[in-house]
Amino acid sequence: MARAAVLWVCLGFLAGLSVGAEDQELPVSYRGAQLLRLNLPSPSAHSLVEGLVDEGEVQLWRDREVNGTELDILVKPDALPVVQERLKNESIEYDVVIADLQEAIEQENSLVSESDLDVLMGRNGHRMEWQSYHRLQDIHHYLDFLAQTYPNLCSVQTIGSSLGGRPLKVLRIASDKPNSPAIWLDGGIHAREWISPASVTYIINQLTEYREQHGDAVQSVEWYILPVVNPDGYEHSHTGDRLWRKNRRSNGQGCLGVDLNRNFGYKWGGAGSSRRPCDEIYAGAHAFSEPETSAIQGFVKSHQAIKAYVSYHSYGQYILYPWGYASYVPPDHTDLSKVGNKMAQAMASAGGGSYRVGSSAITLYPASGGSDDWAKGSAGVKYAYTVELRDRGRYGFVLPAQYIVPTAKEAFAAARTVAEAVLALK
Ligand code: ARG
Ligand code: ZN
Repeated sequence: MARAAVLWVCLGFLAGLSVGAEDQELPVSYRGAQLLRLNLPSPSAHSLVEGLVDEGEVQLWRDREVNGTELDILVKPDALPVVQERLKNESIEYDVVIADLQEAIEQENSLVSESDLDVLMGRNGHRMEWQSYHRLQDIHHYLDFLAQTYPNLCSVQTIGSSLGGRPLKVLRIASDKPNSPAIWLDGGIHAREWISPASVTYIINQLTEYREQHGDAVQSVEWYILPVVNPDGYEHSHTGDRLWRKNRRSNGQGCLGVDLNRNFGYKWGGAGSSRRPCDEIYAGAHAFSEPETSAIQGFVKSHQAIKAYVSYHSYGQYILYPWGYASYVPPDHTDLSKVGNKMAQAMASAGGGSYRVGSSAITLYPASGGSDDWAKGSAGVKYAYTVELRDRGRYGFVLPAQYIVPTAKEAFAAARTVAEAVLALK
């Protein structure tokens, strides 16, 4: 574990040295696109925005909370005049949160260069670090590295392939004790939420290379961790369109992608999901139509020891528990809320961020076919959560890399709290 110490020393050194890495523009440019925060006083104002989303003039980044008035939309430059005009006519107030999204995209991941990473590879045997966002290959290679370096602790299992043929790699981290309960963690189901895989790999790093520092609970459970649920989408968000959300399913109508977090098979196709392939929340042709979700279904169902299921997303800073499909809560909702509140406390002391706790549909908005609802409702997993990581909307999905570590510390604190909760079940 001396390796890990070397890694951090050398990163301090690199951080001082490196200058802007790649500022190459992706095929989809966001030059001049703006992120607006709208204050919607009335339902009629909200339906105006829904109309704009349907017409493809704007992209919804963060929907209005139940009873909330604010929402975030992204407007491409050619649509800006029309949108500004319509907002004015409806007297909808708004702030420009990001004035040029392309600028923000180019700053986001500029701390560590490719050659810095090559240096790390030479020193550590892998390229992983948490001052920058990494490509899929680095993440997968890091999992393989851990399995090779700590064969008694870690193993990698490929539980299936994405539509594009990329492996779905799960890292298993063994418990120190026999017959332990297990915890499932995943990230990257939505391609553009880069802070999610970054935080999940940070959790992996802590659970392996810094294992002794985190006390009994994390060592007394088994971990199954899938850092990138949607590898095709994730890669596309690096090479094609930074703001891609869905997988890359070809739907026939010239629109690509299924929203994998609408494709799980509990109350599939209900509120907050769409049947239209071009929509960002398209639920797919049927429940588990996508190889990424069906691989998870197969794995989780065949591992009955799994007592907690946590999916990491961004952004908004929420700890959400079922149900997402409608404004009800499960019978044991007080347990879910109690542990959720403990998570929020631990997260605040670990990284400083404040997180709101509640059931998905009541706290945020209804959305059917989510992984958490399925884990709770169909797989019988007691503690099912969706954690929406940072931020609250200053940068949204384009969270600069210097926020990875504080955010990931929060994500890890949430996982640790869940470990304590499943151990208390016995
Ligand atoms: N932002 C997440 C999404 O839209 C929230 C999911 C919460 N869970 C749920 N079952 N609705 O996918
Ligand atoms: Zn998400």
